[in-house]
Amino acid sequence: LSLNGAAEGPLTAAFSIDYGYAVHFTRDAFAPSNATLREAFAGEGAGPAAARALPVIDSGVLAAWPGLPAKLRAYAEASEGRLQLAGEPVVLPGGEAAKQSEAPARQVLDAINERGIDRHSYVLVIGGGAVVDAAGYAAGIAHRGVRLVRMPTTVLAQNDAGIGVKNGINGYGKKNFIGTFAPPAAVVNDLELLTTLDDRDWRAGASEAVKVALLKDRAFFNELETLAPALNARDLDAMERLVRRCAALHMGHIEGNGDPFELGSARPLDFGHWSAHKLEALSDTRLRHGEAVAIGIALDVTYAHLAGMLAAEPWQAVLDLFTALGLPLTAPELDDPRLLDGLREFREHLGGLLTVTLIDGLGSGVEVHEIDHQLMHRAIGRLQEVAGPTGDVRECAVTP
Ligand SMILES: NC(=O)c1ccc[n+]([C@@H]2O[C@H](COP(=O)([O-])OP(=O)(O)OC[C@H]3O[C@@H](n4cnc5c(N)ncnc54)[C@H](O)[C@@H]3O)[C@@H](O)[C@H]2O)c1
Ligand SMILES: [Zn+2]
Repeated sequence: LSLNGAAEGPLTAAFSIDYGYAVHFTRDAFAPSNATLREAFAGEGAGPAAARALPVIDSGVLAAWPGLPAKLRAYAEASEGRLQLAGEPVVLPGGEAAKQSEAPARQVLDAINERGIDRHSYVLVIGGGAVVDAAGYAAGIAHRGVRLVRMPTTVLAQNDAGIGVKNGINGYGKKNFIGTFAPPAAVVNDLELLTTLDDRDWRAGASEAVKVALLKDRAFFNELETLAPALNARDLDAMERLVRRCAALHMGHIEGNGDPFELGSARPLDFGHWSAHKLEALSDTRLRHGEAVAIGIALDVTYAHLAGMLAAEPWQAVLDLFTALGLPLTAPELDDPRLLDGLREFREHLGGLLTVTLIDGLGSGVEVHEIDHQLMHRAIGRLQEVAGPTGDVRECAVTP
């Protein structure tokens, strides 16, 4: 800051902030002998004093794991004073309901206020991407930001939603309209929690893995083709492989692409998402985020193929992989004339130039700044043709 310059021109201040956090992978995180979660708090420089944490839990997780609050309590008691819980868990409605109104985030704010959570204390959120987003938003704005440890409990949250820097809730009929960029203190992925997911949620998160593979890593795409039968049989080791590799590619992107808070106009990781977000909204959240992403990517690769960017063979390989993973390629909402408003809304969310990521090969993302609406309509028709009659989301039976 230069006071001498005051008379001549603007005062300036320039600074940078170092961010960094770890994403841990473990199983049975609440076993007293498992140090991962304790260390996730200690790593934040909590010092010799205990880390105080307000637990927030997804109602769906609580239903599937009714003993979890007691286990968490016992875990904190066994931590020899290093982790102290600020009361019983706040329970938020699981799924998109956590983000559809301000009430769930308000529940967390109320508890932060009433239980004296300060900027050196934590919110510990245990849940799917929606609950993690809502609790993260509340943590991000209370006292202008209290510390956050996330324990994501779905495939999508462990490999994507729960490991990044974004938090938020929906508003004005738009996804994630209200929110913050706020990196967590740490993330703990307990793979075992995934075993109670219903089939649709088990499968849906895989579409984000297909997404990053298509953008960045052809070998991972081929690995997903190989893993598909085991994933269908709900093999947890296969899922761990998927989650870890997807999370690694994601974090590499956040760290390496130079724009973690998305100040530019490009959002490469939002491949397939301009339509996915719109499909989710048009379906009144009947479509899961991951299902909508599978359809959105299927649509954009079909567009890229018709535009002459993507050869027939990789195009077909993408559709085949989604099918092998039990993910849908179409939904009735593709016929909704409002679908293409998604392009405008996608641009508005970021501002600047329309930037849509497509691929010109497996593992090779490219940015385009124009989408030919006529051709996009043809892509919808072509996709519906090859994917069979436009159906509802298939409820896939587990194939043993
Ligand atoms: N912040 C980000 O960067 C980011 C990125 C991608 C997606 N998202 C958001 O994530 C949300 C979707 O998250 P999601 O796919 O994790 O689904 P979700 O949070 O909607 O959860 C789906 C269902 O699974 C239940 N559930 C969660 N964990 C469970 C478990 N272990 N056992 C049994 N049931 C369980 C929930 O109660 C809910 O009913 C969307 O709102 C999306 O916008 C955020
Ligand atoms: Zn996504």
